[in-house]
Amino acid sequence: MLQPEIEFLKEETPIQITIDGPAGAGKSTVAKAVAAKLNFVYIDTGAMYRAVAWLADRHDVTMDDHSGLAKLAAKADIRFENNPSGVQKIICNHIDVTDMIRSPRISRLVAEVASVAGVRQALVKMQQSLAADHHVVMDGRDAGTVILPKAQYKIFLTATVEERARRRMAQIKDQGQSQSLDEVIRDMKIRDYQDEHRSNSPLIPAEDAIILDCTNLSLDETVAEVLKIVQAGKKKT
Ligand code: DC
Repeated sequence: MLQPEIEFLKEETPIQITIDGPAGAGKSTVAKAVAAKLNFVYIDTGAMYRAVAWLADRHDVTMDDHSGLAKLAAKADIRFENNPSGVQKIICNHIDVTDMIRSPRISRLVAEVASVAGVRQALVKMQQSLAADHHVVMDGRDAGTVILPKAQYKIFLTATVEERARRRMAQIKDQGQSQSLDEVIRDMKIRDYQDEHRSNSPLIPAEDAIILDCTNLSLDETVAEVLKIVQAGKKKT
């Protein structure tokens, strides 16, 4: 068992750390590592939107059927299961969807699912109740602005589009797929635009978030920076 680096366990009020930011900045890797260091629960809100997209695909609910999508989200039973090796599984309606929600097909559908107001309402409610009784690290796009506006620590993790694209390229290569850097940069710019300009919960830093640019930082350095912010009790004033 990892020894927490900062002793929060005696705190009665749940401690909430939110990490928001654009695609490819490394939020989930950083959030997972910070949660492990602190012995906090990690909540991957993007995975929950992906699970609803997977349900829609499985039940043939089309992207223009907003009330059908909202109903699917409201009825979904989405759970996270942590195993001792640190791998987190996502279980949707009793099915392990951990790998299926990362498929290119679901990646294409999920932005539309995430822009439906009724879906967001249902998932935000679930996300708030998941965070209610634990110390958590939550990553997403609206964790610090909408889901946990009273979080004690809010980080907005960002990097240049070129650097985020280079990191995404490495993942694509690892998965045995190929795409040119120009294509990845173009897709990322489109996704940034969609995330920043949608009417429901657009991607913007919370007013009291600390902006952390990790363009020139390694994963370990980024995690160390986040821990430093938490340890210093640092909040934007
Ligand atoms: O972080 P990710 O790629 O797994 O997110 C999947 C999608 O869900 C992406 O289109 C952004 C969206 N999302 C969101 O709108 N709000 C969140 N809190 C998390 C993700």
